Amino acid sequence: MEKANLNWSELTFAYMKTDCHLEYYFKDGEWDEGKIINDDRIDLNIASTCLHYGQECFEGAKAFEDKDGRVRVFRIEENAKRMVRSAEKIHMVPFPEDMFINAVEKLVQLNQRFIPPYGSGASLYLRPLLLGISGLIGVTPATDYAFMMFCSPVGPYFKSGIKPVKLIVEDQYDRAAPNGVGDVKVGGNYAAGLRASVRAKKAGYTEVLYLDALRKEFIDESGPANFFGITHDNKFITPASDSILPSITNMSLQTLAADMGMIVEKRPIHVNELPYLKEAGCCGTAAVITPIGSITHGDKVITYCETDEVGETCMSLYNNLTSIQNGVLKDKYGWTREIPMP
Ligand code: PLP
Ligand code: COI
Repeated sequence: MEKANLNWSELTFAYMKTDCHLEYYFKDGEWDEGKIINDDRIDLNIASTCLHYGQECFEGAKAFEDKDGRVRVFRIEENAKRMVRSAEKIHMVPFPEDMFINAVEKLVQLNQRFIPPYGSGASLYLRPLLLGISGLIGVTPATDYAFMMFCSPVGPYFKSGIKPVKLIVEDQYDRAAPNGVGDVKVGGNYAAGLRASVRAKKAGYTEVLYLDALRKEFIDESGPANFFGITHDNKFITPASDSILPSITNMSLQTLAADMGMIVEKRPIHVNELPYLKEAGCCGTAAVITPIGSITHGDKVITYCETDEVGETCMSLYNNLTSIQNGVLKDKYGWTREIPMP
């Protein structure tokens, strides 16, 4: 199939309309078989619980083309599972995991011409979302739900790509409350993070780094990605916190780091440990691995990269992860799933 006429290597992390998205509806206790929709507008009751009470959760996954034109998605079973956890936490009816996987397959097949070619550095981003759609004005869970999935070809989340970014430790606003919903992928968490993120960007930073909301002592995560550090004795460390999203990328990096002979520690990381790290990075589906060049904490600036040069360990982890995703390295972990193309 002929590819869409796009400048693939110039793509940023921006929405683009593709040929279609999918919509499935839950009514009278069951999910329907789904429909292919070409328009990118959706039809909702104005009183839908997703619109005023935030009964919404979403996911993010990617499809990649290899050098032979085969297409693979990365760890979508984990996205399917995480979306069930998100749904349950805010009292929504979950979308079944097997239907999620079939939907991914179908959406990628239908939008084949938007899958960025191997070597472009871009990928097809998949965005599943689940919405409470009953028209209600009392605060109560919906009875009817919609599961939708669209896709968009994307480049790097941070404009810099694999170049180091500047973070600032957020000292005023919280993203997620202790015992709240910071560990699931619900839209409200991102709305709650906008104040901090907009302020940081205005001040010249790429993003914020949140501390735990209770004590403001331990690293939580960045706005759109998890945090990890590499110590001088070559350990991979990443925060253990109930308020952060369990990142599928981070989970994969922990496995890769262990296989590279590193000790992996998932534990609370005190903010005062930051100056003692050799390298630091953000990780996520959109962010992939984004090395952190510096972190500003109050009046201190902790610098990990003096230039745009990326630390050795971040670079090796990035190369290992992306080589599995784009089919250059054999996937001995079973993380990728090939999508048969029509
Ligand atoms: N943390 C937050 C708040 C995110 O939005 C994301 C993105 O999904 C991540 C972490 C990284 O998670 P994953 O690697 O599963 O994409
Ligand atoms: C992802 O990485 O898939 C996300 O959902 C993060 C988002 C802020 C772009």
